[in-house]
Amino acid sequence: MSEAEAANRLMRLAREIARHNRLYHDRDEPEISDAEYDALVRENAELEARYPHLVRQDSPSAVVGAAPTTALAKVAHAKPMLSLENAFSKDEVREFVARVRRFLNLPEEEPVALTAEPKIDGLSCSLRLEGGGLVLAATRGDGTIGEDVTPNARTIGGIAQQLTGAPAVLEVRGEVYMSKADFAALNVRQEESGGKVFANPRNAAAGSLRQKDPAITAARPLRFLAHGWGELSEPLASTQGAAVDRLRSLGFPISDLFRRCEGVDEALAHYAAIEHARADLPFDIDGVVYKVDRLDWQERLGFVARAPRWALAHKFPAERAETTLERIEIQVGRTGKLTPVGRLTPVGVGGVIVSNVTLHNRDEIARLGLREGDRVRIQRAGDVIPQVVENLTRDEPREPYAFPGHCPQCGSEAVAEEGEVDVRCTGGLICPAQRIERLKHFVSRGAMDIDGLGEKTIEEFVALGWLHGPADIFRLAEHRAELLGREGWKEKSVDNLLAAVETKKGFDPARLLFGLGIRHVGIVTAKDLLKCFGTVEALQAAAAGEQGIAELSSVEGVGPVVAEAVHDFFHEPHNREQVADLLTLARPAAYVSQARNTEWTGKAVVFTGSLQTMSRDEAKAQAERLGARAAGSVSAKTDLVVAGPGAGSKLKKAEELGVRVIGEEEWARIVAEA
Ligand code: IVH
Repeated sequence: MSEAEAANRLMRLAREIARHNRLYHDRDEPEISDAEYDALVRENAELEARYPHLVRQDSPSAVVGAAPTTALAKVAHAKPMLSLENAFSKDEVREFVARVRRFLNLPEEEPVALTAEPKIDGLSCSLRLEGGGLVLAATRGDGTIGEDVTPNARTIGGIAQQLTGAPAVLEVRGEVYMSKADFAALNVRQEESGGKVFANPRNAAAGSLRQKDPAITAARPLRFLAHGWGELSEPLASTQGAAVDRLRSLGFPISDLFRRCEGVDEALAHYAAIEHARADLPFDIDGVVYKVDRLDWQERLGFVARAPRWALAHKFPAERAETTLERIEIQVGRTGKLTPVGRLTPVGVGGVIVSNVTLHNRDEIARLGLREGDRVRIQRAGDVIPQVVENLTRDEPREPYAFPGHCPQCGSEAVAEEGEVDVRCTGGLICPAQRIERLKHFVSRGAMDIDGLGEKTIEEFVALGWLHGPADIFRLAEHRAELLGREGWKEKSVDNLLAAVETKKGFDPARLLFGLGIRHVGIVTAKDLLKCFGTVEALQAAAAGEQGIAELSSVEGVGPVVAEAVHDFFHEPHNREQVADLLTLARPAAYVSQARNTEWTGKAVVFTGSLQTMSRDEAKAQAERLGARAAGSVSAKTDLVVAGPGAGSKLKKAEELGVRVIGEEEWARIVAEA
């Protein structure tokens, strides 16, 4: 991969991962499986490791898990929380046991006892007890660093607060989950109260546990099942089975379906029994977990990558059914992507009625030869959106489906970039499907950072017809009187909002340009473009012209893909009008390249704890102006840590590593003097 390709790929990954973060954390409506998400994050990390100078300001590695949960403190796990290797067939399970045998060099007659238990579809949680008392509860996070959910965990039934007879240090690990019935009832309540409706019990459990206010968690019906342990001051037993017995006798809930099996045949028989019981279980499971029973063997087997060699998840097969594809509809997403959705004659698949499937993209429809009216076989695996796996009537002579060449929402042309499967609407700011999302992006913290204009408010203003494009934000003052008459708005909140808008006049043009949401234009590219053109007007004039693409491609840091996207955006007359309007009202400053050469150039600074006199973003911007880089975590490469009150693990780590630590005032002095 060339460097330009890597930069391009990193840009796409940043966008994609940010979008999935929002879907998962903010909306609890994931579109991809955890494994697919992990693969994206891994790809990003690998590319960043190979090209450290291409690490983006909006890099997902700085954000993964962190961004959506800034409210929860991070904690390092004493022992990493691992994941499991997956198997989908009996053969793979037998191969797992054979591998264990080979690894341990066991004679043929030596039995390998296994434990087998349901794989609960919840979120893992580590409970640390010291002297029998709960001192810390943490989510898995990335396996090394999780989130502190101690007060929340205390509200969960079945989580012991004080035990007698426990080892001095006992970390119990297990799954926090919500029963199917509790989930259904919660959603009814949420709907009635206008709250968030959750996609499935797992997301409901995650959303309920990861709350800043433990009172909210307390009101949610969460449960816990223990399945393992982390740090221990003394061993629990010499086998997995006996250790689990010990946890049970200490008072931790253990699955009724936990079994010790003499060998692989017995384990597979137990798998069949669990699969049979699955539909009647009060909670969702997605497979069976096997573990080598002897703990001395577990010790010897150790880990590969992030999964133990001594455990295996035997997943249930995806469930399938046949039905009719009645209609193909096109949805237009935030970035203008046209996603085909199949409307089905509703059919039951593994206990769930399915009436919609994702058809992914134009190529997928062509590959399957799908047309409206076809009989199809669909599949539903875990919490992934159902999909079509086979077209059962593809030989019947009928016209193929014609994928639209225009956006069904705004009528603008819809095109696929070269080498891309996704077809996108080019309507940009005028496309209603993209409007709300684009406005949200425009006011977001990394862009114009306008306080008081949240998602709900934007939706409200769009519905009122006050906001069509970003320029209208600067006209909100015209609606002051009307707004004061609306429910939920008081003199003070209206004034605050209007003042927040006012302060963004004459603002940073790079953030304004980034805020326009042009494909592939992140904050770094926006700065690169302005470094060359000076103003958004000049950029627009150049980009929209005949030689636009060539001229843009010659900008340092801008490749052909970005150039084309910028050209396309400014070529569209509606976008030009909108931007001109916006510039008249917002009058951004001329761009001044802000990095200076100081003794801090190239240094890595970490901000931790709560800062009193400035926001995180501001602190980061200050570091950047000094030519330094604001990093997310402390390592031996960190040059300086700025710690505010409440600083925790990062501060500790800095002290351990002997990294210089200063307070906010001293930082302010450095900034002032540099
Ligand atoms: S054992 C080192 N047992 O599945 C072993 N995990 O896909 C790690 N899970 O992160 C966990 N039920 O959150 C184990 N009975 C069970 C489980 C289970 C659910 C989750 C766990 C883990 C994930 C791995």
